[in-house]
Amino acid sequence: MSAQHLDKRILLHALDSPHVLDAPAQAIRAGELVVFPTETVYGLGASALDPVALRKIFAAKRRPATNPLIVHVQGVEQARRIASSWPAQADVLARAFWPGPLTLVLPKRLDPCDASALHVPDEATASRPNVALRMPAHPIALALIERAGVPICAPSANLYMSVSPTRAEHVLDSELADAVRFVIDAGPCRVGVESTVLSLLDGQPPVILRHGMITRSEIQAALGGEPVLLLEEFLALGNDTPPRTTEASGQGALSPGMAARHYAPRAPISLVDELRAPSLLYREHGGPIGLLDHGPVRVTQVDCFGNLSITLPESARDYARSLYDVFHRFDTRGVAHIYVRRPPLDVRDHEAWRAVRDRLLRASTSLKE
Ligand code: TXA
Ligand code: MG
Repeated sequence: MSAQHLDKRILLHALDSPHVLDAPAQAIRAGELVVFPTETVYGLGASALDPVALRKIFAAKRRPATNPLIVHVQGVEQARRIASSWPAQADVLARAFWPGPLTLVLPKRLDPCDASALHVPDEATASRPNVALRMPAHPIALALIERAGVPICAPSANLYMSVSPTRAEHVLDSELADAVRFVIDAGPCRVGVESTVLSLLDGQPPVILRHGMITRSEIQAALGGEPVLLLEEFLALGNDTPPRTTEASGQGALSPGMAARHYAPRAPISLVDELRAPSLLYREHGGPIGLLDHGPVRVTQVDCFGNLSITLPESARDYARSLYDVFHRFDTRGVAHIYVRRPPLDVRDHEAWRAVRDRLLRASTSLKE
């Protein structure tokens, strides 16, 4: 961990006293950036009501302004002051999954004279008429929102297109830490991949824009069997210019942030069916290799060439929890190439594996493609 950022770290495994969050909450109110834990990944937070602070998020991450942010709320009441409509589905899903890793995209309140509204500026929503809302299931995230007294916009606390952080060290070791006032360190994240993003716009079926650990079956079951579409299914029906969205980024009207390459470590990744011997791969690439396998027993090994081999559990949720940490470890080791054995397709919990495969595919797509 680079020593220059250690003064920004607030180590906090439990909320012994609400006052421990006074300084970061004050920093959020003052328009500064604060990294905080959520159950999914660490977020790069700023006041969702402060356009100048929100621009700092885009600058720090080098993220295009066309990619909107998730607004983290304290609960349904705050969400309803930001959204202009709160359909029955939102109510049911919030009751079933909040606090938790489900983000709901809803139309946002636009009337500037509406005194009961919390106005989220265009910087947060990339000038879209919709807003993404999520109540995180982490006591420190919720306490920070409460003490700051404002909803908090937070993308994952990594540079644009690189791997999301699941430990505070991942942020403290990156140049992103230069731009923030505090990094609240509460240990590793429990879920490990980003929230499921679900669009709930008027006149459309619910559409999953980003896969996560809350799956389509769980959402459908909560909605009493109502069909929920995956983005590709929705687009295949000819819905490429959905109502109630404006498109500036050219990345797809409904799901602006889903660039093909994402979540990527520095070394190129190959997804393979069988892993070859690390010593052969070392010779081929002229440098140490990172190998990621899955199996019944968790193993981490470094051989005499410096090749790092990691085996993660065969359960999708356990694998997901550690995946980004493994990528960060490969980055720290400076491996020349990463080989990942493709996770199984047709297995128990295949929907959770889908969220994992989605991350692996995006991480392995080279920029040229
Ligand atoms: O788990 C998470 O969601 C984490 C933690 C920190 O909460 N946050 C996160 O944020 O992953 P970010 O910015 O890395 O990803 C936000 C996703 C992007 O795919 C973005 O395009 C989508 O949410 N999104 C945000 N606002 C949207 C909107 N108005 N319409 C459609 N998609 C939206
Ligand atoms: Mg992200």
